[in-house]
Amino acid sequence: PPPSRKGTGLADAPKDLVNEIKHLEELFTIDTAKLKEITNHFVNELAKGLSEKGGSIPMNPTWVMSRPSGHETGSFLALDMGGTNLRVCQVTLTEQKSEFDIIQSKYRIPEELKTGDADELWEYIADCLLQFIETHHGDVAKIEKLPLGFTFSYPATQNYIDEGILQRWTKGFDIAGVEGKNVVPMFEAALASRGVPCKLTALINDTTGTLIASAYTDPKMMIGCIFGTGCNAAYFEDCGSIPKLAHLNLPPDTPMAINCEWGAFDNEGKVLPRTPYDITIDRDSPRPGQQAFEKMIAGLYLGEIFRLVMVDLHKKPSVKLFDGQDVSKLFKPYSLDSSFLSAIEEDPFENLSETLDLFQTKLNINPSHPELELIRRTAELIGTRAARLSACGVAAITKKKGYTSCHVGADGSVFNKYPHFKARGAQALREILDWPEKANPKDEDPIEILAAEDGSGVGAALIAALTLERVRAGNM
Ligand code: GLC
Repeated sequence: PPPSRKGTGLADAPKDLVNEIKHLEELFTIDTAKLKEITNHFVNELAKGLSEKGGSIPMNPTWVMSRPSGHETGSFLALDMGGTNLRVCQVTLTEQKSEFDIIQSKYRIPEELKTGDADELWEYIADCLLQFIETHHGDVAKIEKLPLGFTFSYPATQNYIDEGILQRWTKGFDIAGVEGKNVVPMFEAALASRGVPCKLTALINDTTGTLIASAYTDPKMMIGCIFGTGCNAAYFEDCGSIPKLAHLNLPPDTPMAINCEWGAFDNEGKVLPRTPYDITIDRDSPRPGQQAFEKMIAGLYLGEIFRLVMVDLHKKPSVKLFDGQDVSKLFKPYSLDSSFLSAIEEDPFENLSETLDLFQTKLNINPSHPELELIRRTAELIGTRAARLSACGVAAITKKKGYTSCHVGADGSVFNKYPHFKARGAQALREILDWPEKANPKDEDPIEILAAEDGSGVGAALIAALTLERVRAGNM
């Protein structure tokens, strides 16, 4: 596990501040027993989501019904509508096994579009696609329609692979008139009005894309996860274990990728040790009562949890954090993102001079040394809790499936950039699954969470390829 600075530099800190740190430690620390309790409840909830009646975790069948062989070929467009960026890719799956070429462009989704008008969103997306195709293919009037894999990373009901009925927006999106509707016709109408030459072949989730892209190059990959703006996972279930699809009489041993949408785990508040800060985040979000698990883990929320702690301690008469300073910037909701926390956790200096600099430049606040220690510890606690909770989800899927040894492909800004996230997650997995200590630190764990291949680019293209193969085989 990464080094902890617990207790350092607090020798001459005011007693109230030291007590406050202890209190935060109690609030945010999740011990092994609690991790196990959460995991066991999680296993039941996964099964409930697959049942006829359903549960709070949606467990959406995705109609991705095979693993890639590595021999898929062809050229595909991939469009990724994530929480933060829009990415357009052209992916060529080459003749060489498990190889691909990719060209791509990234566009930032303007903040106002996330809570604006549906038409504007679809038009913006169509414009980005058009621009990409014009740049890379020339005159759009002269080209044949290109097959497109659309990564739409929100919970969606799919009766077919080219359908996506939005269950609800997540990740802070709040656009009227889309929930409860199939987004594909809206998207296609925008393409048609702009004359964009492509045909949607498959609508996928980023986790499913991650699972398939990772399985393309590594046969041990069994789960795809995203730890980014949002947090979620996908894995293969057998149709025979999906009671809610029983009416379709699919062969029981046919695989079906399930997009868990596990961000919704424990929306009913049975096991997660939520702090008052988590409750405030939920209350002030566009969708209170939803995505309880995600709101404790995902990148969109980590900085905000931290900010709420700081604001609370500033207001608390016994602590008066940053007393006498202009804290107006700190009072702005969602002004600190998870990269702010990453930077604090990355500060290599014993005197936390980089953290000081960050507070001065970004917030116009000049913390004392004991305050800097509290800041660092708070960041560690929030980051550690997120990693440990994520491990519960991974462990739950492996337990449900009976996997004792496999790889898990993970992607997303938190997984890739947040300091110690991987090591903390691995440590939690070890505690939950009772693995003995490794003889050699370099040995693989039985279940390893590894950096995934590009799910919403290569994964989307592969799923489009698998879908076309299935259509050709007359087997939808
Ligand atoms: C949110 C979305 C989910 C997505 C995840 C990661 O949880 O609801 O569909 O996979 O974020 O982007």
